[in-house]
Amino acid sequence: MTLKELEEGKAASLAEIAAAADAEAIEKLRVKYVGRNGSIPALIKGMKDVPKEDRPAFGKAVQAWKAEVEAALAAKGTGGGGAQKVAVDATLPGRWPSPGAAHPLSRVIADSARIFAKLGFTVADGPDVENRFNNFTALNTPPHHPSQDRSDTFWLTLANEGEEAKGDLLLRTQTSPVQIRTMLEAGAPPVRVICPGRTYRRDTTDATHSANFHQIEGLYVDVKPVSLADLKSVLAYFTKEMMGEGIGVRFRPHFFPFTEPSVEVDMTCHVCKGKGCNVCKQSGWIEIAGAGMVDPRVFKHVGWDPEKVSGYAFGFGVERIAMIKYGIPDIRWLYENDLRFLEQTA
Ligand code: DAH
Repeated sequence: MTLKELEEGKAASLAEIAAAADAEAIEKLRVKYVGRNGSIPALIKGMKDVPKEDRPAFGKAVQAWKAEVEAALAAKGTGGGGAQKVAVDATLPGRWPSPGAAHPLSRVIADSARIFAKLGFTVADGPDVENRFNNFTALNTPPHHPSQDRSDTFWLTLANEGEEAKGDLLLRTQTSPVQIRTMLEAGAPPVRVICPGRTYRRDTTDATHSANFHQIEGLYVDVKPVSLADLKSVLAYFTKEMMGEGIGVRFRPHFFPFTEPSVEVDMTCHVCKGKGCNVCKQSGWIEIAGAGMVDPRVFKHVGWDPEKVSGYAFGFGVERIAMIKYGIPDIRWLYENDLRFLEQTA
């Protein structure tokens, strides 16, 4: 083949590629020109028969032809210079899909919302930055109460000593202020809500404390009489749904400023089912929530007549439920985003 013939062959091949209408035609041309038994490799193989003095120019022209044909095929979309180069290594380990999963705290919140929804509760929301009225005053917590102390609460603006200014801002120390917001917004009973969210306290972080954690508040208020027994049945249902069959609740008298009477709520130890073990310190019970009947003073703060309405409230820690449910010994694991931990609860 002369150089002239070679140039003609190149022009013809490029014209053919340019005219190729579909992937099948392109593949045929790839095989014809640059495939293992294609005409260009044949020319390269036949180089030894070309007169020695013509060889450099001929070799250069053949290589240029090959490059142009490959570029033209690639431009047509055959996958970059011909399929020969796309190697499949069948010995490589397979790629494992790792779909995302909800964080344990998100799961507890979602599960709680689902369980309480069956009892008619909707989800209410409130801001992390609260005012003193919603977080303390309306919840019957006086200015001298230790929880209002600077050493316990993240104040964003400070009032003068003892002053009960309504606009003083803080990072909410509990989700209870959403009770106040909900009642003020509703204007009249009934209200039946749970309020999940972040809460903040000036606690030093250790295995069971964090300065930023989550709570779920519950509130039910109605014009018909609401009783402590109603509260107990709702919490018993919740605990059974969340923790499993055979888990019950008991109330212990306690004090909270915003409920009267107030109780602490224990559930049957899920590890020993009440027999007594190390987890429950041999008592058979684990504390999970605070609760009680809404204090008449709280109703007065939102302008509701305590003679005409009654209700209960409860609040529990999301981290605490997650730690109990998934057997997590250290609260910090919930915030470190270590996939080796998160994948185990997914
Ligand atoms: N707010 C309380 C706390 O952070 C929890 C709590 C107790 C909420 C009793 C309530 C309740 O609604 O009635 O410790």
